[in-house]
Amino acid sequence: MEALTFPSYLLPLLLLPFSLYLFSIIRRKSSDDRKNLPPGSRGWPVVGENIKFALLGPEKFIKDRMEKHSPEVFQTSLLGERVATFCGAKGNKFLFTNGNKLVTSWWPQSMKKVLSFPEFVDSNLKVDSALKRTLHRDVFTPEALKRHVAVMDALAREHLERHWKPNSVVKVLGLSRKYTFELACRVFLSEVDPVRIQKLSDPFNMVSEGMISVPLDLPGTAYNRAIKGGKLVREELMRIIQERRKELMEKPERRDLLSKMLLLRDDDGRPLNEKQICNDIIGSLVASYDTTSSALTSVINYLAQLPHIYNQVFKEQMAIAESKGPNELLTWDDIEKMKYSWNVVRESMRLTPPAAGAFREATTEFSYAGFTIPKGWKTFWTVHSSHKNPDYFPEPERFDPSRFEGSGPPPYTFVPFGGGPRMCAGREYARLEMLVMMHNVVTRFKLEKVIPNEKINYHASPTPVYGLPLHLHPHKK
Ligand code: HEM
Repeated sequence: MEALTFPSYLLPLLLLPFSLYLFSIIRRKSSDDRKNLPPGSRGWPVVGENIKFALLGPEKFIKDRMEKHSPEVFQTSLLGERVATFCGAKGNKFLFTNGNKLVTSWWPQSMKKVLSFPEFVDSNLKVDSALKRTLHRDVFTPEALKRHVAVMDALAREHLERHWKPNSVVKVLGLSRKYTFELACRVFLSEVDPVRIQKLSDPFNMVSEGMISVPLDLPGTAYNRAIKGGKLVREELMRIIQERRKELMEKPERRDLLSKMLLLRDDDGRPLNEKQICNDIIGSLVASYDTTSSALTSVINYLAQLPHIYNQVFKEQMAIAESKGPNELLTWDDIEKMKYSWNVVRESMRLTPPAAGAFREATTEFSYAGFTIPKGWKTFWTVHSSHKNPDYFPEPERFDPSRFEGSGPPPYTFVPFGGGPRMCAGREYARLEMLVMMHNVVTRFKLEKVIPNEKINYHASPTPVYGLPLHLHPHKK
């Protein structure tokens, strides 16, 4: 048999791509050396430090690297990008105050693929200015927020009636998700039909569970399910949007986020693109869903775990309940009396922050703490680098709501909602939503954990692994 011989003249052709690859690495390395980049590790080729981030969770990942590399800024590689992680109050301040000057908002391509229509995936998924304008000017104005308190309370009561049965065991995470999602459907879309809500919430859960998993779009992966879920959510929302467009032609009533966006006109007097409106509504649902339900679950967890904190909250909330008739809904003035309860929520968000931080992209090369951040690099500010710093929060592991009394912690140290021009647009809405639910739960039940030391996993937000099962003990009359 004739031996298979390799034609030697092809060897240079085969070696050429490999040589070019090596050359590009060496060139990049020497230009990196010249630049005095932040210290750190880029982990393994392709996967970077994604796996370590997922295994350790954001808090430990960041703490280890601050100790090993630099307490001010370190580099890592996440989601296929080189990322400069800015640390501490100084790092937070730098990124919050330089928004739009040195950095711009940035979302991973893998998330855009789940959330957006395909034609929007390559564009910069900024939180659209029309959305922010509508949220700030219409949906989250102080007047509108005051009206939302009663809607929140009515829904919380309905929920407790249906799902929080006295003397039963409930899983708080699932119920918090249900409450926050139904509330968002009511406030953003005026959608109250349970069948329609389910048609949105089922695929939305697929999105939320897989959106930031390893972006492997293969059958059976969480990421693949998230992509399918995103498509179903967009289809259902587009049906709602088109029906509403017809209704508004007969009666132009600006009653919720959706109708306000449909009635908005651009500078040339044209209505906004429906697909863009759909993207924006999905953006609002994503921004509000995991964060608020995780925050609410954590607060209830601390209340069940710490009787002395529970008792103080109970006293405050019962005083409010007793000042009202049995069917009288909560008002803004009642919320203003929930001072201790709000400090409990803040302390819970300090110890278990619902969001780890946020990405930006450097629009120009700049220096920070003596290091160069090249144009195009991603930056990340992080709650975990300041929330447990003993200089700002003595005995940082201790649950102590009194830290927030008086002038509270120094600026840029407590940042669950971010800061600067991109600070969370829904923070006040989230505050009301959590306090209203807390009022309803605490005034009805004493809480007992079924699994005393239930582990917390970091998914999109921190979540108890078994969903926080609790025994509900009704108060003795
Ligand atoms: C406890 C609940 C919540 C937490 C902890 C939270 C946290 C955050 C954080 C950390 C950011 C990123 C800020 C940055 O990019 O630097 C953000 C942005 C945002 N959040 Fe929230 N959020 C919560 C609830 C909500 C709710 C209920 C809404 C309602 C729609 C909402 C809407 C938004 C929007 C629209 C943005 C983008 C702001 C922008 O880029 O200008 N959030 N949130």
